[in-house]
Amino acid sequence: MRMYDVIEKKRNGQTLTEDEIKFLVEGYTNGAIPDYQMSALFMAIYFQGMTIEESAILTMAMVQSGDTVDLSKIQGIKVDKHSTGGVGDTTTLILAPLVASVGVHVAKMSGRGLGHTGGTIDKLESIAGFHIEITNNEFVELVNDHHLAVIGQSEHLVPADKKMYSLRDVTATVNSIPLIASSIMSKKIASGADAIVLDVKTGTGAFMKNEEEAKLLARTMVDIGRSVGKETLAVISNMDQPLGRAVGNALEVNEAIDTLKGQGPKDLTELSLVLGSQMVVLANKAETMEEARKMLEENLHNGKAITTFKTFIQSQGGDANIVDNPSLLPRALFQIDVHSETSGYVTQLIADRIGKAALMLGAGRKTKESTIDLSVGILLHKKLGDQVQKGDKLFTLHTNTKDNSDVTTHLLGSIKLGNEQIEKELIIDTLE
Ligand code: URA
Ligand code: CA
Repeated sequence: MRMYDVIEKKRNGQTLTEDEIKFLVEGYTNGAIPDYQMSALFMAIYFQGMTIEESAILTMAMVQSGDTVDLSKIQGIKVDKHSTGGVGDTTTLILAPLVASVGVHVAKMSGRGLGHTGGTIDKLESIAGFHIEITNNEFVELVNDHHLAVIGQSEHLVPADKKMYSLRDVTATVNSIPLIASSIMSKKIASGADAIVLDVKTGTGAFMKNEEEAKLLARTMVDIGRSVGKETLAVISNMDQPLGRAVGNALEVNEAIDTLKGQGPKDLTELSLVLGSQMVVLANKAETMEEARKMLEENLHNGKAITTFKTFIQSQGGDANIVDNPSLLPRALFQIDVHSETSGYVTQLIADRIGKAALMLGAGRKTKESTIDLSVGILLHKKLGDQVQKGDKLFTLHTNTKDNSDVTTHLLGSIKLGNEQIEKELIIDTLE
């Protein structure tokens, strides 16, 4: 087989065979196929697309390029959740203990964040003593005993994706739906998930800026999942504004604690309940979404969700006292309020600008090697549609530096007030 012929075939809009797809993934991963040929192929895929069948074959060929995680010793159906990423997205921290509290086994592999705020692991590490360096056997035991554990992602998972993504990143071919879908699904499948729930974000703070594209991406991932035997459901949710009120690692842990006690922000609670219900149904712990939602709502209010979170923190060496006493979390030296100079309704609250402001304070990584300041971040006092009077607090910066004029200017540029009270739907669609 010659790579030239595969490129030509895709360039002409034809469908690639299983052998051809396996040939190119193996060849590229082991270095037999050079970057320039793979670049040409990606560009052909970018313009010609791929069928669901091709995308599913590509996904599985990528899975087979490295290690896969065997979770078969964990009882029950292992459901994983993936979010395409947003600003202030604390849902994993809430969802994991919440669905574990109704008996779902949650075996969570997480990574560190790049950009915006940290990933789930960074957030958990703002809890003193918490550690994710556990062996696979310990991981399995913890999940069987407590229904929930979190482990760092193996370095050897889907090497094909690491190499392919780096190349796409510099050849203007990231934004291809079959390539994004197979990249995401390959990592979830290699991590051992039996079933997958996807949260596809759309809006100014998301990767997919428009709803139609987000729906198409969700549909493609659901179809790939099903065609390789993994039950998959998806939610398309709005990311025009940050989720909840906290953006920053320790601040988001605090927000997750509030939410698990039934006192969280409305949008974060709602999204957690919708995604959580899908996870509970996929794990066969409820027959319908309505039944699942009722179980989850009950546990947010009867203390079971927060108790599960406490047990989980303790089981991985963390100080569970933070749950009753969140002041034990890392706290920045200064809390600086930013006030409004005018009155009106909030008509714009640009999520990625707020994410950037948190990054400027040190809450996220600029490169893979940067260290992260877990204590800093931004609290939002107003959200889209809220009424603001001149002088009202808009934001509170949690910062370790005295002069924050750059960040303040940047933040004020993220918010617009107007005369009209707009309403944004959080859940745009669900694919079931
Ligand atoms: N996220 C991924 O994991 N892969 C992509 O290709 C795009 C976003
Ligand atoms: Ca948040």
